[in-house]
Amino acid sequence: MNSPIVCSRITGTGSYLPGNPVSNNDLVARGIDTSDSWIVERTGIRYRHLASEQTSASDLALEASLRAIQAAGRVPADIDLIIVATSTPDFVFPSSAALLQNKLGIKNGAAAFDVQAVCSGFVYGLTIADKFIRSGSHRCALVVGAEVFSRILDWNDRGTCVLFGDGAGAVVLEASSDPGILATAVHADGSYSEILSVPGQVSGGRVIGSPFLQMDGQAVFKFAVKILAEVAHEVLHASGMNVTQIDWLIPHQANIRILQATAKKLGVPLEKAIITVERHGNTSAASIPLALDDAVRGGRVKRGDTLLLEGIGGGFTWGATLLRF
Ligand code: UT7
Repeated sequence: MNSPIVCSRITGTGSYLPGNPVSNNDLVARGIDTSDSWIVERTGIRYRHLASEQTSASDLALEASLRAIQAAGRVPADIDLIIVATSTPDFVFPSSAALLQNKLGIKNGAAAFDVQAVCSGFVYGLTIADKFIRSGSHRCALVVGAEVFSRILDWNDRGTCVLFGDGAGAVVLEASSDPGILATAVHADGSYSEILSVPGQVSGGRVIGSPFLQMDGQAVFKFAVKILAEVAHEVLHASGMNVTQIDWLIPHQANIRILQATAKKLGVPLEKAIITVERHGNTSAASIPLALDDAVRGGRVKRGDTLLLEGIGGGFTWGATLLRF
């Protein structure tokens, strides 16, 4: 008898946002030379959350993970693979995933590592976890996107500091005989590394280069709209599906205008897109799992729905995952 094909399926979602929402007018009150109307018009962002100085990516990841594990009906000891997507890890090393493992009290030797693909990190993490599970080596993965992007923002650069926020989202991904993840695709093109970067490094006890995020906003915008539609078609084609079969588009939450333009290019009505950028800002690797959990807990995304997740980030990196929830 043939053994059943092993697929991977999301069995629980969770998320966490630190502190109170910080409005655009709160930023103005802090002395940033901007306005609520400029930020809303150009980005769709009204609020973001900012972590305290004492809060690290693994702290945010812990809260999101506990919620995802509970939603999956699991306990931390069931987890055998931990992947944290982050560009703002607690330390150079150990990884935030290893720190998270310890905070969750997991003592079973579960593999734990970080993925650095900036805003595409969660899609990369999900892709890796899916492949681990399909290989049969692991059965119950925790995939987290966790960021404290406020740490790498130059609060004197109004062109970038108003865009980002902190937070974490997590999913439990388990071996299953039913799909689950239908198709994934991840890509990168390092020749675009300069349009979005934090070009600094720790060396000899100093930061060499810049510790702050730098961005050519318009170049990112154009690249994002082009590539997100392409990668969406790639995963649809790989699974023999078409765009009308998508129940929900869950894109990286960078900017409402990128989101609208991508949905239009794909032919997905905006009512089928999960949009949280207004309340969360751009939380980089955390934005997709935060939006997913928001939609699940808000009752919009239901079991059996077909979801298209897609992200783009510094590197440049991009990717998409088509899945049955
Ligand atoms: O995860 C991927 C992350 N990155 C993105 O998603 C970024 C994608 N790009 C964008 O979303 C847009 O390019 C931005 C929202 C970043 C900028 O919008 P834009 O329409 O490309 O504006 P711009 O950079 O061309 O700036 C237009 C004007 C400039 O003033 P002048 O030169 O026309 O007088 C800026 O100085 O807006 C000014 N400006 C601001 N004004 C008020 C830039 N930032 C601000 C601000 N408040 N925060």
